Amino acid sequence: MAKTYSTRVLTFLMLISLMVVTLNLLSMAEAQNKKKAPRKDVPVVQGLSWSFYQKACPKVENIIRKELKKVFKRDIGLAAAILRIHFHDCFVQGCEASVLLAGSASGPGEQSSIPNLTLRQAAFVVINNLRALVQRKCGQVVSCSDILALAARDSVVLSGGPEYAVPLGRRDSLAFATPENTLANLPPPFANASALIKDFADRNLNVTDLVALSGGHTIGIAHCPSFTDRLYPNQDPTMNKFFANSLKTTCPTANSSNTQVLDIRSPDVFDNKYYVDLMNRQGLFTSDQDLFVDKRTRGIVESFAIDQNLFFDHFTVAMIKMSQMNVLTGTQGEIRSNCSARNTRSFMSVLEEDIEEAITIL
Ligand code: HEM
Ligand SMILES: *[C@@H]1O[C@H](CO)[C@@H](O)[C@H](O)[C@H]1NC(C)=O
Ligand SMILES: *[C@@H]1O[C@H](CO)[C@@H](O)[C@H](O)[C@H]1NC(C)=O
Ligand SMILES: *[C@@H]1O[C@H](CO)[C@@H](O)[C@H](O)[C@H]1NC(C)=O
Ligand SMILES: *[C@@H]1O[C@H](CO)[C@@H](O)[C@H](O)[C@H]1NC(C)=O
Ligand SMILES: *[C@@H]1O[C@H](CO)[C@@H](O)[C@H](O)[C@H]1NC(C)=O
Repeated sequence: MAKTYSTRVLTFLMLISLMVVTLNLLSMAEAQNKKKAPRKDVPVVQGLSWSFYQKACPKVENIIRKELKKVFKRDIGLAAAILRIHFHDCFVQGCEASVLLAGSASGPGEQSSIPNLTLRQAAFVVINNLRALVQRKCGQVVSCSDILALAARDSVVLSGGPEYAVPLGRRDSLAFATPENTLANLPPPFANASALIKDFADRNLNVTDLVALSGGHTIGIAHCPSFTDRLYPNQDPTMNKFFANSLKTTCPTANSSNTQVLDIRSPDVFDNKYYVDLMNRQGLFTSDQDLFVDKRTRGIVESFAIDQNLFFDHFTVAMIKMSQMNVLTGTQGEIRSNCSARNTRSFMSVLEEDIEEAITIL
């Protein structure tokens, strides 16, 4: 009798705990979906949409996420590399994958006479592999610029950052980024907050966006020449002295080829520690540290340092804004088959262009 009773109680308890676990899993999945729901508070530019590939390639996001999980397990540094390539793509000519073209000043072509932009070549290979995987599944329907925007989002998520939906429908450019264009459009690491505020404002990104996007430096690395102007010949007084000494060990000369992590507290984790670094005067570039020196941005840095959710929220909004800068849509540009090269022109398209040209001449 007693035995049956205790068995019943046990079964009952087991059922209850099973229910609790199931409910937990369900609510976790729900929370995950909610986080990825479109942000109604960020405008979507004409021609892009939250559900662009729902019919033509419904699995595209799964394919990219699954592959990048594997890639980052081998080398999490590639997450930072991909995030940075997306930023460069958007700031130079717009998010239209010009950065991926061989021959682009910042692309895998690395053609002479340009500053070495230190984009990691392995990350370009990852993007081309994603391109091939997506194309095998859906045909030539998803653009390289969309693949890059999704891969950048996944780089954030898989490093521990916020989940968010990306508006899609970008088309790929026909023209690569010239060295002049690239140089003129990328802010240098020695830029001060005034210069950055102006540069971002010109792109409709406000000071909150600037501080939030700079938080991309919570992952990844830099090469010595990107910051040794703050060490040699004179030490930047806004830099923590112990931090400066450690950097001098990493970079014994200004042109050393060594590298330094951007966020000393958690170099591979997408979190708000970058802002804690800034408050401790351990920002690596002038463009980082000056955000804490300048009165207009200091309060925002502090608010992100004490509230990671606030940072995640503003980062998400700013990324969605940035990822829609000067996009090509509709029939503009093309959908590249190889992200590193323009499509080879078919006889018909050559003919069309000739007709268009003739019309313009007329
Ligand atoms: C605000 C102006 C910015 C400046 C001046 C700047 C400058 C730089 C520089 C000089 C490097 C190191 C290059 C090297 O020496 O290897 C770097 C790396 C990086 N930047 Fe920025 N950046 C800015 C904004 C951004 C934005 C908006 C993002 C993305 C949201 C971003 C993401 C990254 C990442 C992830 C790395 C590490 C790349 C790697 O590990 O390969 N940056 N940035
Ligand atoms: C340019 O950057 C690549 C890595 O992207 C590196 O392999 C190469 O050595 C660099 N070249 C110079 C001249 O610094
Ligand atoms: C910021 O940089 C600009 C140009 O590089 C310079 O003209 C300006 O004086 C600097 N502002 C401050 C406050 O240092
Ligand atoms: C910048 O724009 C975002 C919305 O895109 C807004 O939430 C934020 O308050 C703005 N910041 C400032 C300082 O105007
Ligand atoms: C670093 O390299 C640059 C260009 O390659 C050169 O002009 C400069 O003199 C070098 N600086 C040092 C300290 O070696
Ligand atoms: C893609 O284009 C690049 C640059 O032209 C070329 O080197 C590469 O072989 C191409 N890849 C494929 C798979 O065709």
